Amino acid sequence: MGSWTLDDIPWERFDPAKVDPELLRIVKAASLVEQNGGDYARYLCGVFHDDAAFCAVAGAWGGEEVQHGQALGRWAMLADPGFDHADASRRFTAGFRVDLDAEHSVRGSRAGELVARCIVETGTSSYYTALGEAAAEPVLKEICRRIAADELRHYKLFYSHLKRYLAQDGIGRWRRLAVALGRIGETGDDELSYAYHAANDAASPYDRRRAAAAYARRTYSVYRRHHIERAVAMVFKAVGLEPQGRLSRWMAGLAWWGMRRRAARLERIAA
Ligand SMILES: [Fe+2]
Ligand SMILES: [Fe+2]
Repeated sequence: MGSWTLDDIPWERFDPAKVDPELLRIVKAASLVEQNGGDYARYLCGVFHDDAAFCAVAGAWGGEEVQHGQALGRWAMLADPGFDHADASRRFTAGFRVDLDAEHSVRGSRAGELVARCIVETGTSSYYTALGEAAAEPVLKEICRRIAADELRHYKLFYSHLKRYLAQDGIGRWRRLAVALGRIGETGDDELSYAYHAANDAASPYDRRRAAAAYARRTYSVYRRHHIERAVAMVFKAVGLEPQGRLSRWMAGLAWWGMRRRAARLERIAA
């Protein structure tokens, strides 16, 4: 069980005048992706089938991710009473499913799987930190603060198991880096864009490129340079590189420049 429940959120402080409709669209999408936590927990338990301690941890982790989806979904329904979170979740899972029956990690090894989990938690912890800072609506700010803290704790959790599995799987920095880059590259895959579509544009046919661009444009707008610096440091740590070194700072500068460039291009296309 997580460190908070939906009852801990100060729903009565909700201020409709402070809802940003652009952020509302990405919150709706996030509320659906988080709901997949239960499916991912089952997948992880399949990959780590003879590690009962890790399976228990993965189950609890999945429950926390599902709760993130419920908190964001409930907020989105307050902000837009026409939004039905349960309905949108059904649409999303009907179109996007995680492979539940895997017995081996799609990352090639258990250590590789844990590197990929660290990358996902890096992404979510920086995203909710940035989203919470960008939001003006007090309840959304509070939800993001709690979720960001959970995601950072999840990163630390998977990192601690990664250290354990590195000793037996023996994958080096290059292999870890390849897994990390592969997982970062998957950010452009169907899961996020389909969630954006299912949450916001379900009446029109799914156009992956359009949904991905619409999602990315709004998501990029919440990031600031310090979020990217922290995310790069966390990725470096997960792959076994010095998180605070010169290479990390240089990579953060490059990633920030690339993101600004892509954001500007998407803004031009949308204008
Ligand atoms: Fe989450
Ligand atoms: Fe998480």
